[in-house]
Amino acid sequence: MTTPRLGIVLGSGLGAIADALTDATHTPYAELEGFPEPSVAGHGGTLSTGALSGLPVAIFRGRKHVYETGDASGMTVPVRWLKDQGAEAILLTNAAGSLNADVGPGRLMAINDHINLLGSNPLTGPNDESIGPRFLSLRDAYDPELRAKLQAAAAALDVPLAEGVYLATAGPTFETPAEIRAFRTLGADAVGMSTVPEVILARHAGLRVAAVSAITNLAEGMGGEELSHEQTLRNAEVAARDLVRLVLKFAEDF
Ligand code: HPA
Repeated sequence: MTTPRLGIVLGSGLGAIADALTDATHTPYAELEGFPEPSVAGHGGTLSTGALSGLPVAIFRGRKHVYETGDASGMTVPVRWLKDQGAEAILLTNAAGSLNADVGPGRLMAINDHINLLGSNPLTGPNDESIGPRFLSLRDAYDPELRAKLQAAAAALDVPLAEGVYLATAGPTFETPAEIRAFRTLGADAVGMSTVPEVILARHAGLRVAAVSAITNLAEGMGGEELSHEQTLRNAEVAARDLVRLVLKFAEDF
């Protein structure tokens, strides 16, 4: 296998990115020691390697969520595996609800910071100093240079790319309208149930991080239909069209 330079984690309904791989190999997580076995519809649990726009990448389709076990450390082995392979960076994608009425379903948002309301942290417990420090700084966790590259790729494609703060909740329930009002006051632009554990694990391991939310709905209480996973998957498919183009362009200029 060629050394992947970039890892890409695919969120709910965003599997189309893996279809764009050339020279692809696919390995079920079940065959990889320590990799999680995701349980949610729309999360496959497959590691794919190959090239995107000529860039060697490793694509993780399927992640472990806090709502599955209460534990935030489920993606520890895949993230550290990526670092061990020699990759420089990880691009995390997710489906998210938007707190900004101007950034609606189907739109993309580059994450520039997060608020961790998961109630847990993947680095809880003994620290392995050979991987990273006990007390990790999360300033500029979302690499400013990679964010600029995402924006440049989006501009080149004429794809509108919002930018903002992602707030992670443990789920599995969607938020209440009151929680969404509170989260807006806290400074959140999008809300979801993933990504933050991988960002922390990746920064701890010394990987650079970029992250994009595919907006699948306006957050609860902002109008529209009652939230459901079906709606998430349906609208993720719409956002995935722009996301695939964005990721291919990002890979081209990485
Ligand atoms: N809230 C939490 N997670 C989500 C949402 C939401 O509105 N949409 C997609 N994932």
